[in-house]
Amino acid sequence: MPKKPPFIAGNWKMNLTLPEARKLAESIAKAATGLSEAEIVLAPPFTALGEVKKALEGSSVRLAAQNLFWEEKGAFTGEVSAPMLKDAGCQYVIIGHSERRQYFGERDAGVNKKTQAALKSGVSPIVCIGETLAERERGETMDVISRQIQGGLEGIGAGDFESLVIAYEPVWAIGTGKTATPGQAEEVHAHIREKLASWYGIGPAECAIILYGGSVKPANSFALLSEKNIDGFLVGGASLEAESFIQITREAIRAHKEKK
Ligand code: PGA
Repeated sequence: MPKKPPFIAGNWKMNLTLPEARKLAESIAKAATGLSEAEIVLAPPFTALGEVKKALEGSSVRLAAQNLFWEEKGAFTGEVSAPMLKDAGCQYVIIGHSERRQYFGERDAGVNKKTQAALKSGVSPIVCIGETLAERERGETMDVISRQIQGGLEGIGAGDFESLVIAYEPVWAIGTGKTATPGQAEEVHAHIREKLASWYGIGPAECAIILYGGSVKPANSFALLSEKNIDGFLVGGASLEAESFIQITREAIRAHKEKK
């Protein structure tokens, strides 16, 4: 099976005005010509999708949204649907990020509806899962991960793994500067792939892209991506500066080349 290219997504969260977003996207689009061995994705806030789309025109960098609602249209004030994201040029959408779970009460059942809605509209979901510090300390990490994948992906077909991406983001590592060690991350990634293999078969499990997220920076990206089951990154803070995001991508490409 051909090796999947490293997948590097920048989650800009609730940051950047239009001029700032344009400048950052332009710098990344320019650098991306020399980084063609990676799949690079940018997830700006909704307000900047149009501006970033323009800045990325002619480049290989893809556009993502940070959330969606599962209905296609109607009286849902403040929400944005999958067909709208498709229309806005999004190829990907982040679903179930831990900040959405923590501050906006999202649960696995809703993550599942959103994932189905995205797939139906041809937008690839990046489904986020991860344990809290308390759950890790109680030894519940693998149970939490299994429950989140099972609940979030219920009813998803084996063929959907060609477009579906999973992001393992331990909540205790997000925005804290504390990164999971490569060993800790790999242990969970291997568990995710094993679970996918038992539910969907080896083919889809091998095909699934599994990202790590949580304080990824240029200094730790080579070691993390060198792990067998880590296929890329979902980068928050370090994606807000072109230089660090590009450096992470370079390190990921370097690690990927050396991988067996
Ligand atoms: P961080 O965020 O890189 O700032 O830790 C990662 C994420 O939330 O996706």
